[in-house]
Amino acid sequence: MTALAIRNISELCTCDPDRGEAPGLIRNAALLADNGVITYAGPEHGLERAAVPRDVMEIDARGAAVVPGFVDAHTHLMWLGDRGDEYAQRAAGQTYEEIAASGGGIRATIRATALSTVDDLATAARARARRMLRAGTTTVEVKSGYGMDHDAEMRELDAAARLRDSTDVPDVVLTYLPLHALPDGDRAAYIADVCGRGVRDAASRATFADAFCDTGAYSVAECERFIGAARARGLRPKLHAEQRSHSGAAALAARSGAVSADHLEHATPSDLRALGEAGVVAVLLPGAALVLGGPPPPGRQALAAGCTVAVATDCNPGSCYCESMPLIMSLAVATAGLTPAQALIAATAGGSAALALTDRGMLRPGLRCDAVILNTPHWVDIAYHLGGDVVRSVITDGRAIVT
Ligand code: NIG
Ligand code: FE
Repeated sequence: MTALAIRNISELCTCDPDRGEAPGLIRNAALLADNGVITYAGPEHGLERAAVPRDVMEIDARGAAVVPGFVDAHTHLMWLGDRGDEYAQRAAGQTYEEIAASGGGIRATIRATALSTVDDLATAARARARRMLRAGTTTVEVKSGYGMDHDAEMRELDAAARLRDSTDVPDVVLTYLPLHALPDGDRAAYIADVCGRGVRDAASRATFADAFCDTGAYSVAECERFIGAARARGLRPKLHAEQRSHSGAAALAARSGAVSADHLEHATPSDLRALGEAGVVAVLLPGAALVLGGPPPPGRQALAAGCTVAVATDCNPGSCYCESMPLIMSLAVATAGLTPAQALIAATAGGSAALALTDRGMLRPGLRCDAVILNTPHWVDIAYHLGGDVVRSVITDGRAIVT
């Protein structure tokens, strides 16, 4: 069976700007796909029976809203161990930076991950990716970054590629993130290695290259050198920017043609204008901002500055252990100043833009049929029902996956 028809949808959110006011809502709608590609998204009464292939699988979505599959454009899924102890320490008053300075934080995960095989990593990440799929995520970006040694970083990318080749998880996009924690040994030698064989060997595995540009992490000059080396190998840059302090990373993202600048809690109005003018997607991670404390991501300000905005989980063992895009959308509304419609667009079309994907993120003929059928008639419940289990089933690539 290659054709799928979802009929009698109470509210279809196309997230298509050509469909009028966000989120491109059509009431009493139908969605049709053939071979994984959308062939119709519109009113139920406009669905020509003649256009529906005879062997179509029909789903009756009476009483249900349908939205595009969520695109989680920023995650660190490849880890072993856990940092529940640090979570408790932070609750007792220690800061993320203090814990990192005493050998915990990202470096604790690097130690726990160091000797893992590709199999170990893929198994651990698969469990998380399956939870993401059940919560409506149909595409997920996965970063390396807990290897911090050439071979260990490549194992993380190889484990992510193994997930990408499976059908029981969201579609996977790979990012090489070697500049994450600071190395134990010679910092200059580590950066030289990353800018040499690191980007060379990552280029055949990953699409993007990312760096943590911040106080206590890597400087603007170091990240600029890395971006140049990565770009020369065909890797497209992203940056962890202005998360814990103002470092100049957003300006670097704007002038170096990064695809996205992520976090941005400490970005200034002129940073946001520069990102908007340069077409750099602002990826907001309101879960990490909430867990670590400090200012919320500047969602409303980024939109006002002309940025395309995405929201993502940042799923990782330190700053945000969260697989749920619906929860992140609630946080984007509650803390980052987005409207529910802006949060939904940011979680779908925005996420696609942050991954430079043009074949998904909206429900429009010609695009991939990645969709979420909700167990409520109202799309707004995704964010409004805080922590609610709003997903009835998930469609990836035109295949129905019942959750
Ligand atoms: O996006 N800021 C750097 N990286 C992650 C945290 C990773 C960790 O703490 O393990 C983030 O928040
Ligand atoms: Fe991150």
